[in-house]
Amino acid sequence: MAEKVHIFDTTLRDGEQVPGCQLTTPEKIEVAKELELLGVDIIEAGFPISSPGDFNSVIEISKAVSEPVICGLARAVDKDIDAAADALRFAKRSRIHTGIGASDMHIKYKFNSTREEILERAVWAVKYAKSKKVDEVEFYAEDAGRADLEFLARLVEAVIAAGANVVNIPDTTGYCLPQHYGEKIKYLFDHVPNIDKAIISAHCHNDLGLATANSITGIMNGVRQIECTINGVGERAGNTSLEEVVMVMKTHKDLGFETNINSKGLYGISRLVSDLMRMPVQANKAIVGKNAFAHSSGIHQDGFLKHAETYEIINPEDVGVPASSIVLTARSGRHALRYRLELLGYLFDREELNSMYEKFIALADRKKLVTDDDLQELVTTEYPVK
Ligand code: KIV
Ligand code: ZN
Repeated sequence: MAEKVHIFDTTLRDGEQVPGCQLTTPEKIEVAKELELLGVDIIEAGFPISSPGDFNSVIEISKAVSEPVICGLARAVDKDIDAAADALRFAKRSRIHTGIGASDMHIKYKFNSTREEILERAVWAVKYAKSKKVDEVEFYAEDAGRADLEFLARLVEAVIAAGANVVNIPDTTGYCLPQHYGEKIKYLFDHVPNIDKAIISAHCHNDLGLATANSITGIMNGVRQIECTINGVGERAGNTSLEEVVMVMKTHKDLGFETNINSKGLYGISRLVSDLMRMPVQANKAIVGKNAFAHSSGIHQDGFLKHAETYEIINPEDVGVPASSIVLTARSGRHALRYRLELLGYLFDREELNSMYEKFIALADRKKLVTDDDLQELVTTEYPVK
């Protein structure tokens, strides 16, 4: 039996911190409803103390969706926790996500404090959040990726003892290597006696392009919640991309994990978030990029046309992309040209195809990309009777 990994989507909180990509409340509600349809387990709807707009969005999202847990962020500060609890009052199931810096770098420079004081504040924050009318409390140990392991283990043990239902181990700066992040999680499972009383969560940033890999090594070592965003949007180089971690688990069933995500909705929600945030998805982005299922070299096209799995490990329909595409360039072969001509309704014998191919290559060298309109023109010029 596969083990469930909870998907915690933070597109509307960490994701929305991207400069210039802020969403209005109606836009956030639209995204939240789509996240619900997608099957995410937890929606981090905002950071209520940060602005009246964010506070209001958390309220409206809580009213608009009913299946996922609705989560609000709060620093380990009473006014943050009060605001989060207040904004979450309409949620069917609510969670406060509170926490504090755990690395010496954060303790010294951000908080001008000591490990002992941070530990006390963390325990206080969890207890204070637990005293509010919310269903769950999650604790984040900010910059855990660079924190001292022994201290991190003490902190995790203390916040679980204080009642944290979920403990988040963020690699806030995207610093860890997959092996190190995995070892960190394993160390916690080996050294925190009460760790089975909470769900351990991975929240990885992508500064070195390792967020997905780190989240996956996290689950291989005991994490059962992944915090991620649609298209991997987020601070700096972004967060773990939801579509990537979900499809890693779906593609590698041998890992023994499953999620509640309906993967057929991935492409649609990727487009929606990209459009609303006015943030294009890079063409070669895994799973949802324009080229993720496009084949352009002759060798690949020939193999793909013989059997799709020669060059595709995911069926595009499984992620909501209607079909793979054969892109015609000067690297394309006869097989690809014939295929695209047939899609347009043209059948040529071998000799005709050879002659068409020569003209096509000359055109492709000039034009780089040959479109259906170009093909149409080529055919009608060369073979007006066809
Ligand atoms: O990256 C981070 O550490 C965060 C926390 C606030 C959870 O976003
Ligand atoms: Zn973050």
